[in-house]
Amino acid sequence: MCGIVGILGKSSVSTNLVDALRRLEYRGYDSAGIATIEGPGIERRRAEGKLRNLEKRLIAEPLGGRTGIGHTRWATHGRPTERNAHPHMTAKVSVVHNGIIENFRELRADLEAKGHKFETDTDTEAVVHLITEELDQGAKPVAAVRSALQQLRGAFALGIIFAGEDDLMIAARKGSPLAIGHGSGEMYLGSDAIALAPFTDAITYLEEGDWAVLRRSGAEIFNIDGVPVERPLVKAVASALLIDKGNYRHFMAKEIHEQPEVISHTLANYLDMTQARVRFPDLGIDLSKLTRVTISACGTAYYAGLVAKYWIERYARVPVEIDVASEMRYREAPLPENGLAVFVSQSGETADTLATLRYAKANGQRIASVVNVRTSTIARESHTALPTLAGPEIGVASTKAFTCQLSVLACLAIAIGRARGTISAEQETALVNALMEVPRHVASILRSDEAFVAVAHELSKADDVLYLGRGSSFPIALEGALKLKEISYIHAEGYAAGELKHGPIALIDENVPVVVVAPEDELFEKTVSNLQEVAARGGQVILISDASPEKTGCKLAAHIQMPKVDSFVAPMLYAVPTQLIAYQTAVLMGTDVDQPRNLAKSVTVE
Ligand code: F6R
Repeated sequence: MCGIVGILGKSSVSTNLVDALRRLEYRGYDSAGIATIEGPGIERRRAEGKLRNLEKRLIAEPLGGRTGIGHTRWATHGRPTERNAHPHMTAKVSVVHNGIIENFRELRADLEAKGHKFETDTDTEAVVHLITEELDQGAKPVAAVRSALQQLRGAFALGIIFAGEDDLMIAARKGSPLAIGHGSGEMYLGSDAIALAPFTDAITYLEEGDWAVLRRSGAEIFNIDGVPVERPLVKAVASALLIDKGNYRHFMAKEIHEQPEVISHTLANYLDMTQARVRFPDLGIDLSKLTRVTISACGTAYYAGLVAKYWIERYARVPVEIDVASEMRYREAPLPENGLAVFVSQSGETADTLATLRYAKANGQRIASVVNVRTSTIARESHTALPTLAGPEIGVASTKAFTCQLSVLACLAIAIGRARGTISAEQETALVNALMEVPRHVASILRSDEAFVAVAHELSKADDVLYLGRGSSFPIALEGALKLKEISYIHAEGYAAGELKHGPIALIDENVPVVVVAPEDELFEKTVSNLQEVAARGGQVILISDASPEKTGCKLAAHIQMPKVDSFVAPMLYAVPTQLIAYQTAVLMGTDVDQPRNLAKSVTVE
C-alpha cells in the first residue's frame, strides 16, 4: 500500500514532505523518496527501506525546493530497491503513484519504440514517459496530463510536478483515494487527511475519476470527462484525523469505495504483477502432496471460505471441507495427514474460529490464516499468517475485508493448482491477469450508485428478500442476504438457485423481491430457468449480471449491469453490488448503518 504527498509551499518543503510521509508509513515502508522543483529542473532523493534512510540521505544531500512530491512505497511492480522507488522522473516531469497501471506493458512497448529509455521495472514509469511524450509533442503540462490520463487503464492515484513549474502540481484519482489540503498561500496533496493533519484541516476529497490542478492560490478540479466541478471543502476534526470517514456519510460507504485500492494492495502482496505469476509465501507443507484443505470461519469470512472451496476444488483439484467454526470446533471432525487448515478472520480474534484453529493444530494440520489484523491472536497462533491489506475496517458489516479475503484465497487456489500441476503456466498468467483487472472493474461498478438506490427503494418495502446464486455465486447470494439483514433488519435468505424448487419457492409472491446473482458463465442457463420460475409466480426479480436482460426471457424489476470478466474473478466483483444494495437500503430505512443493533465488530465470545 503506497502513500502519496505533495506540497506547494512558501519555503523549502522537504522536511514537511518527510513529516507527512511518516504519517503514511502504515501504507508502505519498503522504500521512500521525494522530488522537488529546483530552478529550471527537478531533483530527487530516494532510499530503500524505512523512512529514516531517506531522512539520512536528505541530511547528506538536502533539497531546497518550495514545490515537491513524496512517496512511501509498498512494492507492486518491481523489487523494493532504490531504483524502483518513487518519485519516478524524466528531465521534464516527476510522478508519485499509488495503485496499478494495468496497461503499462503496452504503453511501455509503445514508448520504447518512440525512443524513450526506461530505467525501472515499475508500472509508474510508463506514466512518466507518457506525459513526457505529450510534452515533447508540444503540449502544455495540464493538456499533457489530461491526454495521458485518457490512455491509462487501472486503479490509481497520481501526484505530478513539472520541471521549471514552481507553482503547479497535478493530482488524479481513479480507484485510489486522494485528499487536497488548503493552507494559506500553500496547497497540499495526500493519500488521506491524516497525512496533512500537521498542516491543515481544510480538506477536499477528490471523487472517483477526478483530477485537479493545484496552484498556491487554490485547486481547480475536473471530473472524468474533463468538466470543471466543485467538490466540498470539509473541516477534518481532530478525532477524524485518526480514523477518518473522508467525505462519506458512513464508514461502510467509505470502506466499500476503498475496495479498488485495498484489493490491489492485497493482490500485490501475493502476485508478481510484472511476470503475471502468483508469489505465495511458503506454507511449510508440500502443496503437491496435499490430501485435503479444511476451511473454517464465521459469518462473512465463512462465505469467503465457501468461495475458496469452489476455487480450490475446481482449479487445484483438492477436496475441501468447510464448516462454520462454531460447528466445526465441536464436531470432532477427523483430519487427514498432509492436510492444510485455513482460517479466515478479519479481526483475527473470533473465539469460535480460534478454537477451531487450535483443534486443527492439535490434530496435525498445517495452519494458515487469512487475517486483516497481523498482530491478532489467530495470526500469532498460525504457522503462516496471510494478511489482507484492507486497512482498518470500522463499519460493523464487513465489506472490504471480504473482497480482500477473496483476493488472498484466489491466489492460494492458484498457488496450490500450480504446485499440483492442475494449472499450467499459461492458465496461471490468464488467471493472474484477470485478478489484476479486478480493482478497475470494481471502480467501474462503484460509479453506478443510482442503480442501487432504485433497487433499495424496492427492497425497503419488503418484509422478506431472497438471494439466489449457483456455483461460486452461491456464497455471494448468502453474503448478500447477510449484508441486507444485518444492516437493514429486513429478513433475507440466500439459497443455491437449484434448491429453490425444493422448498423456498413456496415463499414467492409479488411481495418478495428475489436478487439473482448470475454471471454469464457455464451455469447461467440453469440459473435463468430458476429465475423464470420466480417470475412466473409474480416474484420481483433483481438481476445482477453481465448478460443482457433479454437473455432471461422474462420481465425484470431491475437489472444491475456488470462488466464482462473471467468467471474465476466474478465473486470478487459480484459481492460489490450486494454491498451497495444493502447499504442504500439501510440508508433509506434510517438504521444505524455502521453500528447495527445487536452486532459487534469483534466476536471474542462463543
Ligand atoms: C458480517 C460480519 C461478520 C463477521 C464474523 C467473523 O458483516 O462482519 O459476519 O464476518 O463475525 O468475524 P471475523 O472475520 O473478525 O472473524
